[in-house]
Amino acid sequence: MTEYTFDLFDPEQSQHMWPLMHELRAKCPVSRPMPGIAYTARYEDTQAVFRNAKAFPSVGGFRAQGTVVDEDELLLGEMDAPLHTNLRRMLLKVFNPGLAKKAEAATRDVVNGLFDRIDANGGGNLVNEFGLPIPVSVTARLLGIPPEDTEKVAAWFFEILHTDWPAYNVLHRDQPDSPRGITGSAPELSAYLGEQITRRREAATPPDDLLTGLIQADLDGERCSDDRVRALAVNFLSAGLSTTNLIGNLFYRLLSDDGFQQTLRADRELIPKAIEESLRVESPVLFLFRTTAEDTEVGGEVIQAGERVAMGIACANRDETVYDDPDEFRLDRSGTPEHLAFGAGPHLCLGNTMARMEAKVAIEEFFDRYAPGELALAPDYHFELMPHYLEYGPERLDVVVRRGA
Ligand code: HEM
Repeated sequence: MTEYTFDLFDPEQSQHMWPLMHELRAKCPVSRPMPGIAYTARYEDTQAVFRNAKAFPSVGGFRAQGTVVDEDELLLGEMDAPLHTNLRRMLLKVFNPGLAKKAEAATRDVVNGLFDRIDANGGGNLVNEFGLPIPVSVTARLLGIPPEDTEKVAAWFFEILHTDWPAYNVLHRDQPDSPRGITGSAPELSAYLGEQITRRREAATPPDDLLTGLIQADLDGERCSDDRVRALAVNFLSAGLSTTNLIGNLFYRLLSDDGFQQTLRADRELIPKAIEESLRVESPVLFLFRTTAEDTEVGGEVIQAGERVAMGIACANRDETVYDDPDEFRLDRSGTPEHLAFGAGPHLCLGNTMARMEAKVAIEEFFDRYAPGELALAPDYHFELMPHYLEYGPERLDVVVRRGA
């Protein structure tokens, strides 16, 4: 059998392996690109791993191997049953698909506020000034963070994303006494959220928002600790960042392909189809990991207990046995199985309707506000992907506003 080796942690490889993905699906559906890692290439196998949480638990999640996190600070993507099942059940009562509908007006407000700023500056970078703030601001508003504090909270939050906390649960892994966990790594954000939590716990009539919902929710007859509520709030804030990639990918396509923009402007019913096709063909999350608990056969190959599995989401979403012309961005697909951009099974993305709504509102408001050509890519713009091994979206999108263009 041909040996396929590639470095999943090198964005130069992981973001540019479309021809290799085709070969893997055809010739080596479960490969061993790196020692101790099995990579699933086909749709059916990738979906099977997502669904089989018993053989492929989430313990360890996306963290570096060996990283220890206090139970109350765990994020959903690094938990397994029964805690995960109970928390999901609890969360679905407060973070349900109806919430996206409820958040739509606030999202329009956020989107227009960001366009106001871009207009005032005659342009800007749509990734940092539009795609990035939309999901964070919408989630912050849902949590009940006052609008005047949103920028401050977003700034603290972006700060910890650029430390060693996401992968190692410590602020600086090369410093022996470096603070640990969310509380240690992000003291200002933690104190701020702590104060918001206390205020709600003590209020006779707390505000009707997501933070109150999390505080009052019933987890197996008990209330969640402050640490758990804080971790869930951070989980919602961080999980939304893939929406930045979705919006970035869609706006790059809209601004670089006049025909595509015209088609969507002429028939807005096609916007949801464009969103699904973007999620499929340029999946914002390229792959995710699981750890194998017991030897399990996948795609004719035994994945052994202890091995990590990289579920090749982006590769599976271009499986030619599932999608005709899989590399083509087509608006006329129908009857095809749902892509795996939001995962599948017990950890299916909780924010999928929220992400779809945010992308739809961003495009609709763009069409309402600007005539064709009024918001355009800067003349010297050059497309580059953000250099991250498992994310897929533009690093920047420089635009200019040309009123009356
Ligand atoms: C285009 C945007 C998004 C993409 C591509 C995306 C993708 C995913 C994927 C693939 C998973 C599964 C993780 C796993 O199986 O380990 C996931 C989980 C999750 N997502 Fe999203 N997501 C997006 C937006 C959002 C938004 C806007 C929110 C909330 C505000 C959100 C909240 C979550 C949460 C809480 C989980 C954990 C679910 C669990 O482990 O039970 N996501 N997301």
